[in-house]
Amino acid sequence: MFLTVTPNPCIDKTIFIPKFKPGDRVRSNKYTQISGGKGNNVARVLVTLGFQAGALLWVGGYTGKQVVKMLQEKDKVKCFPVWTEIPTRTITTILEEENGRQTAFFEPGPRISPQEYNNFIQTFNKVISSYKIPIVVLSGTVPDPKVAFLYRDLIQIANKQGIKVILDTYGNEFSEGIKSNPYMVKPNVEELTKFLNADLKDINSRIGAIQYLHKKHKIPCVVLSMGREGALVCWDNTYIHIIPPKIKEINPVGSGDALVAGFTIGLYKGFSIEDTGRLGVALGTSNAMTWDIGKFEIRDLINIYEQIKIYKINPINNQKVQYKEHTPLPVLLPKLKNSSL
Ligand SMILES: Nc1ncnc2c1ncn2[C@@H]1O[C@H](COP(=O)(O)OP(=O)(O)OP(=O)(O)O)[C@@H](O)[C@H]1O
Ligand SMILES: [Mg+2]
Repeated sequence: MFLTVTPNPCIDKTIFIPKFKPGDRVRSNKYTQISGGKGNNVARVLVTLGFQAGALLWVGGYTGKQVVKMLQEKDKVKCFPVWTEIPTRTITTILEEENGRQTAFFEPGPRISPQEYNNFIQTFNKVISSYKIPIVVLSGTVPDPKVAFLYRDLIQIANKQGIKVILDTYGNEFSEGIKSNPYMVKPNVEELTKFLNADLKDINSRIGAIQYLHKKHKIPCVVLSMGREGALVCWDNTYIHIIPPKIKEINPVGSGDALVAGFTIGLYKGFSIEDTGRLGVALGTSNAMTWDIGKFEIRDLINIYEQIKIYKINPINNQKVQYKEHTPLPVLLPKLKNSSL
């Protein structure tokens, strides 16, 4: 079982309305809700692809219970809740169907008491010693700035047990987390720009940036996701640029999480960097083609996977050469072939 960690989950509610302006009283006749939070999105994708996923989360109150219920019953994700006194937040997105505009309102996350912090660490220890966990995915923000070092502590514990950690966060959580040497990080361009305080507008500066993280921070696998421009990957000194085809973007939220799910599988199964990158980008792109976060059409995934282009990069002179070979998706994921085609 893979373990995802989501310290700051939410109920992710979308209200569909024709259109609105601030100050309006608007009635809606349609809304959807899912268990939100970046690690939960990763877990949902892993389960869709036929893998088992567990979710460790801080949850509180009635909304927290709902998050756990939805994850377990709808998403088939095994939950390890750590309860907080303060209830879990709801994120409300207003989707205007006439123009596609999205406006989102975020409630604050909970403050975390020392006892709740210790409970989280203890539960993490218990889960990784009771289940066979090859990879842990740490995703998103930590709700209380007082404990922004949470990921640093969790990575240290996982490293001691020989469990690979994927870290997908930003800000203090990122700078604290990389002190403990995660196996993989996945910033997007905006997140890495802020971390390095550097201009990362062109591809050469981005190659330099991932090289810096790989070499100076000793992170074996660095993935920089770049939205419609795909992703740059540095893994064991090999550099590649993975480029998806042009698509009609419906909702790219959670595309980074879908990409992380692809890398989780690739690392676990020992796929090549090229096949892993192709799978990760295909998942990110397919996620952007549907409204639901962490959901995709298998048919889109298969089409996109075939259409992706990969270039190998020489980091000394940044020269690119196209790499054409790839393993067909049904060979890579035989369970997908049986259940979904
Ligand atoms: N418009 C798009 N067209 C094609 N592919 C896309 C598009 N948007 C996202 N993707 C795919 O999804 C991957 C991850 O996207 P992105 O860089 O936006 O992640 P992110 O900012 O971390 O997202 P989030 O944090 O919301 O999950 C990209 O590398 C790319 O493969
Ligand atoms: Mg992201």
